[in-house]
Amino acid sequence: MSETRAENRIRIFDTTLRDGEQAPGCSMTIGEKLRVAKALSELKVDIIEAGFPAASPGDFESVKAIAERNYGPIICGLARCNPADIEKVHAAVKSADRHRIHVFVATSAIHREHKLKMAKEEIIKSAVGAIRMARELCDDVEFSPEDASRTELSYLAEVVSAAIEAGATTVNIPDTVGYTVPAEFDRLFRYLREHVARIDDIVLSVHCHDDLGMAVAKCLAAVGAGARQVECTINGIGERAGNCSLEEVVMAIKTREEFFGLDTGVDSTKLYPTSRLVSNITGMHLPRNKAIVGENAFAHEAGIHQHGMLQHASTYEIMRPEDVGLSKSSLVLGKHSGRHAFRDRVIELGFDLDEFETNRAFQEFKKLADKKKDVYDGDIEAIIMNAGGASSGPWTLQSLEVQTHTDQPATATVTLINQDSELVCESALGDGPIAAAVQALEQATGVDMILKNFELHSASIGEDAQGEVTVSVEVDGMSFRGRGASVDIVEAGCRACLEVMNRTLRRRARGDTPGINTQSAHATI
Ligand code: KIV
Ligand code: ZN
Repeated sequence: MSETRAENRIRIFDTTLRDGEQAPGCSMTIGEKLRVAKALSELKVDIIEAGFPAASPGDFESVKAIAERNYGPIICGLARCNPADIEKVHAAVKSADRHRIHVFVATSAIHREHKLKMAKEEIIKSAVGAIRMARELCDDVEFSPEDASRTELSYLAEVVSAAIEAGATTVNIPDTVGYTVPAEFDRLFRYLREHVARIDDIVLSVHCHDDLGMAVAKCLAAVGAGARQVECTINGIGERAGNCSLEEVVMAIKTREEFFGLDTGVDSTKLYPTSRLVSNITGMHLPRNKAIVGENAFAHEAGIHQHGMLQHASTYEIMRPEDVGLSKSSLVLGKHSGRHAFRDRVIELGFDLDEFETNRAFQEFKKLADKKKDVYDGDIEAIIMNAGGASSGPWTLQSLEVQTHTDQPATATVTLINQDSELVCESALGDGPIAAAVQALEQATGVDMILKNFELHSASIGEDAQGEVTVSVEVDGMSFRGRGASVDIVEAGCRACLEVMNRTLRRRARGDTPGINTQSAHATI
């Protein structure tokens, strides 16, 4: 790299819970957001953007809940340039020992004319007012000129100068619509560093979307030109084509350390478990060939490659699987494996289960090992996710029997058991096995649902791999998503539906009003 700033530490600003959660189908419950926030703190990101508190009461509550846990990273909330938004962010984040207010306003001509209908000077005035107000509440204030990459360079420099004068401590340059290309973004960052006084007194940040598929490359170009904070999301989730992927940018900086001369504080061995956690929670499954965390990222099929690997792994691998939290071998456990081996594997996969959860997951593992020969890491993850869902009750699936005949309705019988060991058994007919099983579950639990979408994904490899099912359903006029896993896909679907039915029963028992979404405005649960 031709030029580096004196400081060689890149701050990782994770926005999975804000920009990532804004993506269609990626909304999360408060409990799920807390699990992600905890995992991000174990990953050792520097900043967690926990949400947009003014977007909805649910968003406010989840940012507040995350800040109250004080997991370690700086907790940040997003605000438009108005007092109400800024006050809400402050109220939500203030209990974290280290917190940040992030204010933004669009600056490009397109946004000025068509969205804001504001003149250049008005925008600067609004940004300055907001930054000053935020600085009165908090020492750590970030400012983003939205759509910066499509903003006139000289005007952008004026906005950034005004933001620094007003007290911003981090200035983020977003490529909001994924329009720029790496060489052009490099020029933009160099221009700002040449034309903005005191720019070296603040942290310059970069935020790229992936509409043209170059988000990571553009962030790295900005880093080469002096950016010292990268905004990114786990698995690259986010609006439209997504954001810069955290795991890719972190591993690029680590793997090409001799080129960049930089590092991040991230514990890369937590990348894989965190990626799996986010994909399980959001139901956004990764392509097998996804860089760093895809199932094929460290798999070698071609004979020549396998031969090379046997001689020396560096022939075809530029990173060690262990460095991203993947175990070397994927074929490990079977029905003869004991509780210790299982527990070690669970820990290696990055899960933190208590004694009770470990025992319950081990029992499920034993049942699965009786049904299939080899139990892969993906199977174990599916068991743990499944146990997490099933643990919260009131009902657990005890048995499922399905009969299908060509040209005739299918029949399903389900038996459920609750925490008081009460059993309920119901049978139903349906157009297919899933419809019949869902109908039987509805009769057993008293919860009616409309099945909107049924997605099946293989948790590992082989004909006997477990199927992970994610269902999108409507209950009481609200949208929910449930997950379940089993070697039998009808059973996996049942578990996914039962998870939502259990949540509905708990919600009804609490007396929550149907129709009021406790999540963010765009959330489905
Ligand atoms: O993409 C964008 O411009 C944003 C800002 C709010 C930082 O997400
Ligand atoms: Zn964004």
